[in-house]
Amino acid sequence: MFPIIRPRRLRQNANLRRLVRETRVSVDDLVYPLFVTHGSGSVCEIGAMPGNCQWSVDRLQPEIEEIAALGIPAVLLFGIPESKDEVGSGAYDPDGIVQRAVREIKRVAPELLVITDVCLCEYTSHGHCGVLEEGCVCNDPTLELLTRTAVSHADAGADIVAPSDMMDGRVAAIREGLDGAGHADTVIMSYAVKYASAFYGPFREAAGSAPQFGDRRAYQMDPPNVREALREARLDIEEGADIIMVKPALAYLDVLTKVAAECPVPMAAYNVSGEFSMVKAAAKAGWIDERRVALEILTAIKRAGADIIITYHAKEAVRWLAEGNGD
Ligand code: PBG
Repeated sequence: MFPIIRPRRLRQNANLRRLVRETRVSVDDLVYPLFVTHGSGSVCEIGAMPGNCQWSVDRLQPEIEEIAALGIPAVLLFGIPESKDEVGSGAYDPDGIVQRAVREIKRVAPELLVITDVCLCEYTSHGHCGVLEEGCVCNDPTLELLTRTAVSHADAGADIVAPSDMMDGRVAAIREGLDGAGHADTVIMSYAVKYASAFYGPFREAAGSAPQFGDRRAYQMDPPNVREALREARLDIEEGADIIMVKPALAYLDVLTKVAAECPVPMAAYNVSGEFSMVKAAAKAGWIDERRVALEILTAIKRAGADIIITYHAKEAVRWLAEGNGD
């Protein structure tokens, strides 16, 4: 023991710290979320998410070129449709907003992986993630609509579909639908462990998907639960999920670690809108060093067990990482 053993020896300078560093975030780990909106000629910055915009499809090209040039492997698409209805028809319209955006991205950057969020909440007039019956989100009839949505995304050229609705049985239904439509190679990244979180606040402004009554607690997970996370993760893997996700990330790093230890599939973590907005707001107030805080957060998410990190900081993080790993 002390004075023979001195852990500080290995922290003396930047090169020693580099040699013994256990976790490294790289551009290879990052996914950048993108919001695409109806209409044309529009690039609208999201108030609570500085640097992130809602893009009309005709304005996407430079943004896609920038993302591809930065070496970010994948984008995650969300759509803001022109109109909504009770059954979210815009979600599975072959000429819907996400379907058109996928085709445009594949035209501009064929190698950039396109992940699509599969959910109805941006497309339903009531803002819930499934169809309603007597004021309740009804699980089984929703599965068919989610499947149609996923198949239409794959038809448009999506590489990965990411169901975020939290209906039971949706991974199996989507897998069957994709395979039946000739999309056996389309990857499913399931939001397996998704909590009913207040950290989604800014996203609901960004995607216009706030529920018009009630909340999502009858289908998204209850934040205090962790054994239930293992159950959800196992079920989705059995149903055919190729990648599973824990969401949000920061307040759920313990969940991420436990699920990653148990599950032999790649793990994604979603550094959600509220987590991003808090960093931006504190940085704007001059209270924190944004670069260091953001890289520390991404490193923590990776250290906790994530292979893939979905983050609104992706573009900035790539530039910061190129300057040196926060050291
Ligand atoms: C759609 C969906 C949400 C998010 C991703 N997909 C919102 C929600 O479930 O209410 C949140 C993403 C974020 O906050 O960054 N169901």
